[in-house]
Amino acid sequence: MDAVCLVGFMGAGKTAVGRALADRLGWPLYDLDEEIETREGRSVYEIFAESGESYFRQKEREVLGQLAGGNMVLSVGGGAFTVDDNINLINKISSSVWLRCPIEICLQRLSSSAIKRPLFSDPTQMANLYQHRLKYYKRANHHVDGDKGTPAEIASEIMELLDLKAEQK
Ligand code: S3P
Repeated sequence: MDAVCLVGFMGAGKTAVGRALADRLGWPLYDLDEEIETREGRSVYEIFAESGESYFRQKEREVLGQLAGGNMVLSVGGGAFTVDDNINLINKISSSVWLRCPIEICLQRLSSSAIKRPLFSDPTQMANLYQHRLKYYKRANHHVDGDKGTPAEIASEIMELLDLKAEQK
């Protein structure tokens, strides 16, 4: 089993590191949010606004459950790895890697991000959500700092940790 799943809070760098890692490995990148958006024909922001958070959570579970195995880099939204069934499934089909990143850095990145995030709110609420979620993120198989180094450097660190070799180009 060589799939790698990146988990962690919004702004931890899952998408950027996921791209760098998939590129180095020559593996497909599967972004759960993007997959849901494609299937739904609307953005995550619109899904939350029009159908509510619980509908989105249900889609996360559904799409995760339909994932084929095999080599891939999987990146999941910050709330996906906070549900027992999802955590168990992700840890079964992949090596999960928590991109650990201080809330201050996540908030900085989020405030300069072009992506509209439905749960992005005031710093106190975000910090509470972050604290609440740490216990879930800690259940990832590996923990890597998401604020130390460029996405390419963090991808290299993950490859070393999991003993994965770069694709020969
Ligand atoms: C969410 C994180 C988002 C996205 C949705 C909900 C969350 O993904 O799935 O807005 O609950 O933390 P990112 O972590 O990629 O921002």
